[in-house]
Amino acid sequence: MGEGLAAVVVREFDPNKDRERVEAVEKICEVGPSGKLSLFTDLRGDPICRVRHSPAFLMLVAEMGDEIVGMIRGCIKTVTCGKKLSRVGKNSHSSNKNSDTFQATAKAVPVCTKLAYILGLRVSPSHRRMGIGLKLVHRMEDWFRDNGAEYSYIATENDNLASVNLFTDKCGYSNFRTPSILVNPVFAHRVEVSKKVTIIQLSASDAEYLYRRRFSTTEFFPRDIDSVLNNKLSLGTFLAVPRGTYHPETWPGSDRFLSDPPQSWSVLSVWNCMDVFTLEIRGASLIKRTLAKTTRIVDRALPWLQLPSIPDFFRPFGFHFAYGLGGEGPQGVKMTKALFGFAHNLAKERGCGVVATEVSSGEPLRFGIPHWKMLSCAEDLWCMKRLGEDYSDGSVGDWTKSPPGLSIFVDPREF
Ligand SMILES: CC(C)(COP(=O)(O)OP(=O)(O)OC[C@H]1O[C@@H](n2cnc3c(N)ncnc32)[C@H](O)[C@@H]1OP(=O)(O)O)[C@@H](O)C(=O)NCCC(=O)NCCS
Repeated sequence: MGEGLAAVVVREFDPNKDRERVEAVEKICEVGPSGKLSLFTDLRGDPICRVRHSPAFLMLVAEMGDEIVGMIRGCIKTVTCGKKLSRVGKNSHSSNKNSDTFQATAKAVPVCTKLAYILGLRVSPSHRRMGIGLKLVHRMEDWFRDNGAEYSYIATENDNLASVNLFTDKCGYSNFRTPSILVNPVFAHRVEVSKKVTIIQLSASDAEYLYRRRFSTTEFFPRDIDSVLNNKLSLGTFLAVPRGTYHPETWPGSDRFLSDPPQSWSVLSVWNCMDVFTLEIRGASLIKRTLAKTTRIVDRALPWLQLPSIPDFFRPFGFHFAYGLGGEGPQGVKMTKALFGFAHNLAKERGCGVVATEVSSGEPLRFGIPHWKMLSCAEDLWCMKRLGEDYSDGSVGDWTKSPPGLSIFVDPREF
């Protein structure tokens, strides 16, 4: 076994000569147990597609002779890992209008760290339990350290024993967060959005301002949020406010909005995963496929009934990812529901099968997110490891040991 591993060469993925062989491994790894449904991902000829939008990324392959037997992807970026109070001096008017007084106020400011993420680790079923997965992870972590990353994390299903054991038992990762992936199908009818809510599309710069002002202390918030919002896959940022408070035609900009916000509001951005990869459910019986089709036919014929029809998951379908959810006020959940109704209709217009999102398990706005339990994942397990000891900002201590916040920022580039 040791000799076998010595024959495995780990090197950087070469798109010119490796693409087809990598796709072949991807395919055999996707095959689920016979007779059961399996989810097939089509990376559309670009095996790096799920990391290439990050500031730094790498894909490695494990090669044995002429055969590619495994691969791993990784990326690095700077994110918020905590917050600290900073004293800021501020001129403020005292009751005496003629004299300005200098007042010191405490403001929460983000503490950032360089974070690495591992995804898409695969080893051919015929070459498992030989140490190849471990070798790929170690080599990827070397690259993370060489590039100054302080933490590394992975997301996996908590029932994926092989993956959980590999990372926690053998590589020193520990359970960190368990956000929920919430998935809603796109029906054949349009969803009604409450008439009491106005939805305003923000420009990328207005969205950036709002996110930096309000969400930069949320953990995992990316410091390069501007490159996320300006990416061609970002379909826009949408703000929901009670009708009669703000209007698209007289929108004064995020700065003025935040200095005089309505009592309740909510914000959400949409990312187009459909142009990156598609999904397909394989292994469904003819009966299931026919039933699903029937629901769509009825829904299309009688859209006013608002039937929860099942999309065509049995052919490749794309999806949108809703990210950057936030907001406040007693009607924040209602605003969120309106935004997701709007996002549903956008996805329908663009021919998507589902709208997915991922939020912290404690997210107060999650009650406004429509989803089907059978398509969702209540606990997506995120495991994290501290790579370096010379931590850049001692004020928040070891992030891996910190308690979760109410919200988490899930970067659409990594979904
Ligand atoms: C997870 C995966 C990459 C592991 O690859 P691998 O080359 O077989 O892993 P290794 O041989 O390096 O195993 C290292 C350790 O992981 C754990 N492990 C690996 N496979 C396991 C299994 N089937 N059951 C339990 N533990 C397992 C063990 O602790 C193992 O050490 P050991 O062999 O000394 O007991 C492989 O099973 C795979 O491709 N699975 C499908 C895709 C997937 O789930 N990827 C992970 C998503 S992040």
